[in-house]
Amino acid sequence: PLVSMTDMLKKAVLGKYAVGQFNLNNLEFTQAILQAAQEENAPVILGVSEGAARYMGGFKLVVVMVEALMEEYNITVPVAIHLDHGSSFEKCMEAIHAGFTSVMIDGSHYPLEENIALTKRVIDVAHSLGISVEAELGRIGGQEDDLVVNDAEAMYAVPSECDQLVRETKVDCFAPALGSVHGPYKGKPNLGFDRMEEVMKLTGVPLVLHGGTGIPTDDIKRAISLGTAKINVNTENQIAASATVRKVLEEKPDVYDPRKYLGPARDTIKETVKAKIREFGSSNQA
Ligand code: G3H
Ligand code: ZN
Repeated sequence: PLVSMTDMLKKAVLGKYAVGQFNLNNLEFTQAILQAAQEENAPVILGVSEGAARYMGGFKLVVVMVEALMEEYNITVPVAIHLDHGSSFEKCMEAIHAGFTSVMIDGSHYPLEENIALTKRVIDVAHSLGISVEAELGRIGGQEDDLVVNDAEAMYAVPSECDQLVRETKVDCFAPALGSVHGPYKGKPNLGFDRMEEVMKLTGVPLVLHGGTGIPTDDIKRAISLGTAKINVNTENQIAASATVRKVLEEKPDVYDPRKYLGPARDTIKETVKAKIREFGSSNQA
């Protein structure tokens, strides 16, 4: 069923695992992620950035596509459709009205008080409708669609500010930027585990780890042990899918039917998502 993230993340904190947020880019991603979650018997969060929604035909189309596929595949695991890095109050409302069950309001580029005020405004409406909300503090480096943060702008979240934001907004889950990066890492990721522990102790809400692509398994496990209950992955699936498309087209230069290369790409995405779900420990937690 389509649900908010609230219950799945509470369960994840208690069970010491993380629910994967896998981002949708097109039909094949949606099919692959839903099937992977069902086969792993795992709760799953479908992340939709504003750019990806625009590419696919808008929030409404994404909701209708997800609902139709869930019916077609007899999906029984909990599924949330979540706006990823929502850029404004208006965008969050648009997603909610289209049927999203969860939104992120990313006010991380605003001063603390403004971020809190904006997050609160979204939560007022969202919570009255049973929609879960994620907020962010600090700045996650790298690039995801329209969101570009260069090295100099990337910033670690300050624990006392995290505490204030969570206390004043009653947000359902929270992403403190602690050195993770959107897209491939340059060198080894350097996550701020001490701060992560402090933020969890202070706030007590499920934490979110963005930039899940390229983080070593040991770091994933450590983050989960410190209260990370949601891990976002997009680039890893994109890289895997593109490698498959390249391989098919190189091996069979005569292929022109998109199903002949997007079908295999879909299989690759499904296997990649299943491996992530197992790594996050969310298999058989539906
Ligand atoms: O919000 C989405 C994620 O943080 C994705 O990060 O593309 O580096 O896996 P990634
Ligand atoms: Zn992100």
